[in-house]
Amino acid sequence: MLKIGILGSGSGSNMQSIVDAVEAGTLDARVVCVLSDVADAGILARAARHNIPHHYVDPAPFKTKLEGAAEERVIGLLQEYGADTIALAGFMRVVKSGLLQAFPRRVLNIHPSLLPAFPGLAAWKQALTYGVKVTGCTVHFVDEGIDSGPIIIQRSVPILDDDTIETLHARIQVEEHKAYPEALRLLAAGRLRFDGRRVLGT
Ligand code: GAR
Repeated sequence: MLKIGILGSGSGSNMQSIVDAVEAGTLDARVVCVLSDVADAGILARAARHNIPHHYVDPAPFKTKLEGAAEERVIGLLQEYGADTIALAGFMRVVKSGLLQAFPRRVLNIHPSLLPAFPGLAAWKQALTYGVKVTGCTVHFVDEGIDSGPIIIQRSVPILDDDTIETLHARIQVEEHKAYPEALRLLAAGRLRFDGRRVLGT
């Protein structure tokens, strides 16, 4: 059984999809804690509603990355709660080598585009502005780069003529909520294996 620690900065709908899969018995895992760099993030309120231990970790002095004292505190909490798998779920900071070395090949992320297209912020807006006709979401292992780690699962969605950034993000999120539990299911089943940067077994 996976012991998942979740890091997020936002509303937590992806965290909800993981918790729902665990509670429905379709994902052999336990969410051991939820951590956020945003004190009033919805993800912490959702964790509270499910009686999952949750903490705000002050990310200061950094604006865009998790490093220094905050990184140490996050690693400490994850170890204290016995996490063996880390799921970044809308965590809007770059994680650095300290976390990755503490949980080698066990840190996953979900990104709202078909990587390697549109890494970085507001990927759904990047896709809409660029004019591609298909986008989607990607669940991948996290490496030292930005949204560059080995890909586990991708799901695609069409971009429609009358899409706004809101309607497109909503369509991508429907697929995210299927993709993240599915990737974790494959990990829990021991199905995933590496061939260079390819992830096989999906
Ligand atoms: C999700 O769409 C996720 O893919 C994205 O933030 C949203 C969080 O939503 N993550 C990134 O853009 C990371 N670069 P949620 O808080 O409802 O899960």
